[in-house]
Amino acid sequence: MEEHQAYLLTKAFEERLAIVNRKAMASLFHSWSFSLFLIVLTSAMFIGKSMAAGYGKARVPTLFRPSRWSLAHATFYGDETARETMGGACGYGNLFQTGYGTDTVALSTTLFNNGYACGTCYQIKCTNAPACYGVITKVTATNICPPNWSKDSNNGGWCNPPRVHFDLSKPAFMKIAKWKAGIVPVMYRRVPCARTGGLRFKLQGNGYWLLVYVMNVGGGGDIARMWVKGSKTGWMSMSHNWGASYQAFARLGGQALSFKITSYTTKQTVIALNVAPSNWRVGMTYKSTVNFS
Ligand SMILES: *[C@@H]1O[C@H](CO)[C@@H](O)[C@H](O)[C@H]1NC(C)=O
Repeated sequence: MEEHQAYLLTKAFEERLAIVNRKAMASLFHSWSFSLFLIVLTSAMFIGKSMAAGYGKARVPTLFRPSRWSLAHATFYGDETARETMGGACGYGNLFQTGYGTDTVALSTTLFNNGYACGTCYQIKCTNAPACYGVITKVTATNICPPNWSKDSNNGGWCNPPRVHFDLSKPAFMKIAKWKAGIVPVMYRRVPCARTGGLRFKLQGNGYWLLVYVMNVGGGGDIARMWVKGSKTGWMSMSHNWGASYQAFARLGGQALSFKITSYTTKQTVIALNVAPSNWRVGMTYKSTVNFS
């Protein structure tokens, strides 16, 4: 009797267990098939996107969008001529010749991002101070504002990490505030860089080493990766040197050069085919017809 009851109980329990398991299996199957569906869908989207991304034909437009407004402070360096802003850490050299002019900024280490922020553009407005003019100005990052650890971060060491700080050219600062204020609170946001014409490539290096400064970068303004191709070579990955420069250790003399560049912010890739003719020379800047949007 007891044995029978025990058997019935066990039987009932097993049946319940079986039902529970069937349900679990069913829901597992459903969730599995759903996950599988998601995996297939996302891979399809990814493959589609990767196929569309690089090679021109059906590129997905990944336009750079402005960031949100944030708060920081701004100072200035140099005088009204902006002479001190030339030859900055991005490697753009003479900013009048390279088209950046005086609407430029040196970024604190935190913003500078080891030079990957070179060429990025910001809107800056002085806010909440009597010295403010209330206008928005737009600047391009062309330099780093290095830390000075002998000064307190809140008293002169404005560019010390982790501070977000903008050290403007004096002409740029004078557009947003009375320069005698020295330092003003600002609101800022990343904005697309509007550039006229294509990417420009300034070539440096020697017979075994090509160093390329990329200028006049539109869209996000920044560069994540770069490749070079000689007319007798395949695509070669270049490494980041400093600022906005990339290098390849290769013999490329006497070959026309093409460059492939991926934007840091938008991941968009553009190809500038045969930008430099086979008789290219170190020290020259070559203009392409392509740019980021
Ligand atoms: C850092 O600040 C000290 C103290 O004001 C100053 O003497 C020095 O020149 C500064 N260093 C740099 C690299 O600006």
